[in-house]
Amino acid sequence: MCGIVGYSGNEDAALLVMQSLKRLEYRGYDSWGIVSLSNNKLSSEKKVGRISEAKLSLPKSKIAIGHTRWATHGQVTKQNAHPHLGCKQKVAIVHNGIVENYLTLREGLLKKGHKFSGETDSEVIAHLIEDEKKKAIPFEKAVANAASKLDGSFAVVALDSETGSMVGIRKNSPLVLGIGKGNSFFLASDVNAFLKHTKKVIFLEDNDLVLLKGHHASFFDFKSMKKLKKKEVEVKWSSEEAEKMGFKHFMLKEIFEQPEKAIATMEGRLVAGKVVLPEFEKILKKANSFNRIIFLGCGTAFYAGLVQKYLFEELCRIPVEAEYASEFRYRNPVVGKKDLVIAISQSGETADTLAAIREAKAKGATLVSIVNVVDSTIARESDSVLYTRAGPEIGVASTKAFTCQLVAIAMLAIAFAVKRKAVSKSKAASLVASLKKLPVLMQETLEEKAVIKAIASKYSKKTNALFLGRGHNYPIALEGALKLKEISYIHAEAMPAAEMKHGPIALIDKEMPVVFIAIRDQTYEKVLSNVEEVKARAGKVIVVTDKGNTVLEEMVDDTIFVPKSEELLQPIINVIPMQLLAYYVADKRGCDVDKPRNLAKSVTVE
Ligand code: G6P
Repeated sequence: MCGIVGYSGNEDAALLVMQSLKRLEYRGYDSWGIVSLSNNKLSSEKKVGRISEAKLSLPKSKIAIGHTRWATHGQVTKQNAHPHLGCKQKVAIVHNGIVENYLTLREGLLKKGHKFSGETDSEVIAHLIEDEKKKAIPFEKAVANAASKLDGSFAVVALDSETGSMVGIRKNSPLVLGIGKGNSFFLASDVNAFLKHTKKVIFLEDNDLVLLKGHHASFFDFKSMKKLKKKEVEVKWSSEEAEKMGFKHFMLKEIFEQPEKAIATMEGRLVAGKVVLPEFEKILKKANSFNRIIFLGCGTAFYAGLVQKYLFEELCRIPVEAEYASEFRYRNPVVGKKDLVIAISQSGETADTLAAIREAKAKGATLVSIVNVVDSTIARESDSVLYTRAGPEIGVASTKAFTCQLVAIAMLAIAFAVKRKAVSKSKAASLVASLKKLPVLMQETLEEKAVIKAIASKYSKKTNALFLGRGHNYPIALEGALKLKEISYIHAEAMPAAEMKHGPIALIDKEMPVVFIAIRDQTYEKVLSNVEEVKARAGKVIVVTDKGNTVLEEMVDDTIFVPKSEELLQPIINVIPMQLLAYYVADKRGCDVDKPRNLAKSVTVE
């Protein structure tokens, strides 16, 4: 959802900003732009298309800002690409977020004689700052005054040619300061932008303003302009983790990293047959006081909640709901002190999830989160956080973050069930042992890649697909359909297998591939009947089933075998063929797997 970068230091700023933007491209990639400051003059370069394919022709400078865009307001044109400059070309800004009152602000500025060159909401920010500067106040104060007029969400980096200073400011959109060698500074939407240069960071919080002048950074609350002291932290991710390491795409690399990242997520948390989560001690003490658990998330993160609703209910015998964060927030939900809300988010910055958790918290719920990005906003606003340790996820389609979320929630459910005395210690110990075995089973599943690739190739020209599963494999079917849609642009739908006969069965003909998750478990016989129903109507059946199920193999068109795990953990295995199938289909169709059209990795607008 738009990537922004600023650099101030001793190196070639425009070049560094460009390299950093390339690493943020997964946040948006329809157009890009950079403004650099040299000899008290701002020079600008903006282009439609991808920055990864571009060369730079800006003069050398020590200070620059840049942006890679995911359009919200205004079409994808050069004029609408950021940075935006004020009329006098002395102020430039890049913005991530949405200025909700931009039409009113624009009207006011037009009346004052300002001229706009594009249609974006963001451009008003440059003109507002320019207007404030007329009051002969410090640049940072002009930015703060302008920011106080904005409704909505923003992370803004502004550059002033007259003072040579750069200001970063945020409200409900992420912004992080990287502290490089010789007191050089990066300001960026996320740490991946500058991991190659520094791991020392300061996460800005809402209403924070940072002023970069010369080799100094100073921090203020932009509402009061009171000085702030900020804590510097060291990021643990390595810059290599954000590279492709020989894989054709980040998505493929991330799929193959899953066993290793599952191990990392469990490390130190499964001890002597028990789940040990020190970060959750306080919450676990209250385990018996909750009447309900509500999972909140968006996209793939929402499906993680939907999958683990089954496991949580089964183990803890407590009602569990999983809800789209975007829906929860706008329906005046009945939620209160007896509810435990679990937010799930890879980025920890998704605007809909953030809005939903704030609503739940305001109504008195206890809030915990399962988050991948350390110190992100959702993490900071939660009463407790269980971090997944998936490392940076660059592919827009989420894969390793999902399986790590499933593993993390499973650990939480076991700890919770033990505290509520809903499971015996021996059952908990056996679940812990099964969790520990998962990475080996995940690896075995990945070894089926050649089979999956061949199946993908066979069906890659189809225009529709159905994904069916029952129980906790129904959300895995949903995830399979979502993966296929988002990266290959094939229309795909998922539903509980038994629901097919209540309507969607009308779609079945010889052109329709139907992917079944049909593991020999308690619902197997029923799923088998659904397979027969599709076969009877000449549909093409692809099944994911457990190794050795040759009877089913003979009935269907294509089979992907997976190893069997403890039944409650089986979805963590079953999703891997879904990911690989979508990947190989999309690759065969020549799609841009890591940067699917119209999508962005971290959606920081509602
Ligand atoms: C976007 C991404 C999805 C992701 C969702 C939630 O829509 O394209 O892949 O699942 O946001 O993101 P989060 O960072 O909150 O997990």
